[in-house]
Amino acid sequence: MVFLWYDSRAGCRFINDMLIFLFKRINIFRHLVPKGIFMQANFRKTDFIPQPKAAGDANKKTVIAVDGPAASGKGTLARKLAERLGYAYLDTGALYRAVGLATLESGGNPDSWQDVQTAVAIITRNLTPELLASPALRMPEVAEAASKVAAIPEVRQALLDYQRAFAANPPGNVGGAVLDGRDIGTVICPNADVKFFVTASVEERARRRFEELKSTSPDKGAILSQSQVLADLKRRDERDQSRATAPTKSAADAYVLDTTALNAQQALDQAISVIRAKFLSETNDNAAALRKPPQP
Ligand code: C5P
Repeated sequence: MVFLWYDSRAGCRFINDMLIFLFKRINIFRHLVPKGIFMQANFRKTDFIPQPKAAGDANKKTVIAVDGPAASGKGTLARKLAERLGYAYLDTGALYRAVGLATLESGGNPDSWQDVQTAVAIITRNLTPELLASPALRMPEVAEAASKVAAIPEVRQALLDYQRAFAANPPGNVGGAVLDGRDIGTVICPNADVKFFVTASVEERARRRFEELKSTSPDKGAILSQSQVLADLKRRDERDQSRATAPTKSAADAYVLDTTALNAQQALDQAISVIRAKFLSETNDNAAALRKPPQP
């Protein structure tokens, strides 16, 4: 009878759960068992999913804003954060790129609202994950068109609801959303739970973008030199930072993360430690060091 009980699946699961419980509670056991056994417990401990503290609002989703200039590493960081935390991810630049591409395809001028408005109407009716992942959106001329349409206030207004709805009700009803862009922490989600502003020197960003172009599209890499990529980035930075509506800028309460000398994993580790500090009230030197000094 006892033997049959041990042999049943429920019994095995029970014993397994008890062992994990004991291993997690009693520190001394850590040294007596092979490392692999503890992997699950350790993973759970460090890869927590932060939950909003809002009392009485069980449906509130955690929102993480990741802003910054092109090729700063914000997209990679935002994607990895979403993966790690089990949140939904939205690349808001792809929305502007989709409008830019549709405008170019219709032969319109991306600087003119009159030419862009039909594209906006079509894109906002047909926003799908497939459309936003289209490789055509990554072309340099589409980036340029995106930056131009993004300076038109009506375009920004038309895309605002979609972004806010995504943050409030992420697909899959997961616990939160990570949005990357230029104005997430300042305009789209000013009440985001954690905000990052990711930067890097413009030379390093040009190097990264050039390498990316070479690997994803060998033809483009051959046509565009690294100095052309640098000039494109500078022009786009200038336009994105100086436009009247929702310019690229760090929110006053954002953590500034300079990735010039960091690889993707190091940037992720720093961001996770900032989130842990925020949600678990841990003492954390990174969080203090990364916080931007108050604006004059
Ligand atoms: O981030 P990405 O390079 O894909 O963005 C393309 C362009 O879209 C940017 O140069 C910027 O002008 C615009 N954009 C924006 N606001 C966002 C995201 C992107 O204005 N939230």
